[in-house]
Amino acid sequence: MTTSVKFVLLLCAVLLDTGLSRPSLDGDDGYQMDDYANDDDPDTNVSDYEEEKEYTGPPPEFTVQSMMLEAHEGDTVTFPCSWKVPVNDLKERPNFPVMWKNGTSSLIMGAIIATTDKRVQSNGSNLILTDVRPTDRGTYTCEILSSETPMDLHHSLEVFEAPKVAKIHPNKSSIVVEAGEALTLSCDANGYPKPTISWIKKRKAKEETFKGPTLNFEKVAPSHSGEYECTAENTYGKSNPAHVKVVVHYKPKVTAIKERVISGVEYESELECRVDSEPKAKVKWQRDGRLIEPSNDFEVTHMNHIYKLKIRKTKTSDFGIYTCEAENTLGSAKSTIDLTRMPSTPALKKVNHADDGSSVEFEWTLESYAPISQYELRYRNKMSEDWKSESPAVTDAEGNIYTVKHKLSPQPPGEYEVVLVSTNEFGSSRSAPHTFQLTHELGVAEPRGEPEPQKIPESGNNGSETRPRLMALLTVLSLSTFFL
Ligand SMILES: *[C@@H]1O[C@H](CO)[C@@H](O)[C@H](O)[C@H]1NC(C)=O
Ligand SMILES: *[C@@H]1O[C@H](CO)[C@@H](O)[C@H](O)[C@H]1NC(C)=O
Ligand SMILES: *[C@@H]1O[C@H](CO)[C@@H](O)[C@H](O)[C@H]1NC(C)=O
Ligand SMILES: *[C@@H]1O[C@H](CO)[C@@H](O)[C@H](O)[C@H]1NC(C)=O
Ligand SMILES: *[C@@H]1O[C@H](CO)[C@@H](O)[C@H](O)[C@H]1NC(C)=O
Repeated sequence: MTTSVKFVLLLCAVLLDTGLSRPSLDGDDGYQMDDYANDDDPDTNVSDYEEEKEYTGPPPEFTVQSMMLEAHEGDTVTFPCSWKVPVNDLKERPNFPVMWKNGTSSLIMGAIIATTDKRVQSNGSNLILTDVRPTDRGTYTCEILSSETPMDLHHSLEVFEAPKVAKIHPNKSSIVVEAGEALTLSCDANGYPKPTISWIKKRKAKEETFKGPTLNFEKVAPSHSGEYECTAENTYGKSNPAHVKVVVHYKPKVTAIKERVISGVEYESELECRVDSEPKAKVKWQRDGRLIEPSNDFEVTHMNHIYKLKIRKTKTSDFGIYTCEAENTLGSAKSTIDLTRMPSTPALKKVNHADDGSSVEFEWTLESYAPISQYELRYRNKMSEDWKSESPAVTDAEGNIYTVKHKLSPQPPGEYEVVLVSTNEFGSSRSAPHTFQLTHELGVAEPRGEPEPQKIPESGNNGSETRPRLMALLTVLSLSTFFL
């Protein structure tokens, strides 16, 4: 049989897609037909096959190396494979058949296309793949079926691909966890080059970004609630995001906006507490264990987290301790609010040091609906236990706000603390202690530099009038370490 006839027959075999069914064109070993596949190889002489000789020379060597091929979708890729044997005599040159595999499945055996995939072609000992797809990614092996030991050459194919989220865990639009439980969010993506994965947590207007495919929470906290969005990104772009909403359930938390509310008879009083809860809590207001129902006298409202109890016209009997209690499926919590006619805790507004360092002027403000009967300004040298006292004059209130201005020039110079106590017919309220320095005695001062501004600690709204003296001393101690 002539080579040309054989070639035509082989072509037919390929075109008819006979697959693995090896054509016995001439009774030869099918592999012999590789001669044609190799006819672009200069080392090969087509006529060699006619003289079937057992090759006994040195083993073949590949003349190309393993490589990593990259292609875009739709491209044509040529996987090279060539080899030589170190013999000089052309007559000695063997014609080893070449087999191509995709992973472990055969694509080409000699000249036979062993796959139904029409994109696979052979060109000599090379493999040509047209119309590349992302699924073609993998290892392609060229194997020389030499009589000695078969030899393998591996190429890998990577197909550029825009990233796509392949898996998200948990794959649910929303997941509910209890505070304290463990939670893992993970995300997997396809694409080439290998995409980087990041999570974005969205909660209200706030966004936080986390790098990496996994988010691990050993113990979830209420603050972990939110919309989590996983995106994969490579040089091709960004994937569509995959979402999971995390809802953390927890016992309500209740805080009074003001623990003491100052009011007066006939005035409107407003008690407020903040409730944080998931699921949403039922909130009730109580006075001495009795539930307060909305009525002409009481208005109960809420907006977002803030729950309000409004007493439209406060009566004498309305003063006292109220509780704001919130309950959900996981438990309940409450906070108390004192509705009182006592003066509010005086708040220190200004501290002016005289330029000569010999005196300090203070200004406090406070709120009282009943007239203030007296102020007592107590101060002491911090080296001593003895409190001294002065009585600033009571001036008229503006609205229900009283302002107290007073200058102190205690002797000798040193570190002092001062407290203002204000009293009306319902009780007394004491300011948080304030520490100040005097550097010079009155009248014997030398001019000194800029007075150092002193910070005014927030006195808040705490009922400090009932606080025992020991507590005040402890506060002073901690304040003084802060200022030193
Ligand atoms: C192949 O062998 C024949 C003789 O057997 C020779 O005439 C011819 O030149 C050879 N061809 C090549 C490409 O080596
Ligand atoms: C097949 O190989 C020959 C020689 O190497 C080359 O010229 C030709 O372009 C190749 N064909 C394809 C389709 O790659
Ligand atoms: C290679 O094998 C994979 C499966 O392992 C398949 O999806 C792909 O189409 C194959 N490619 C070719 C060219 O045969
Ligand atoms: C989520 O699950 C659905 C079906 O259960 C599946 O069709 C989808 O591909 C999954 N999505 C991801 C991103 O894992
Ligand atoms: C009230 O006092 C308590 C304990 O003394 C303290 O924890 C709290 O922060 C204070 N509140 C305000 C508003 O100052």
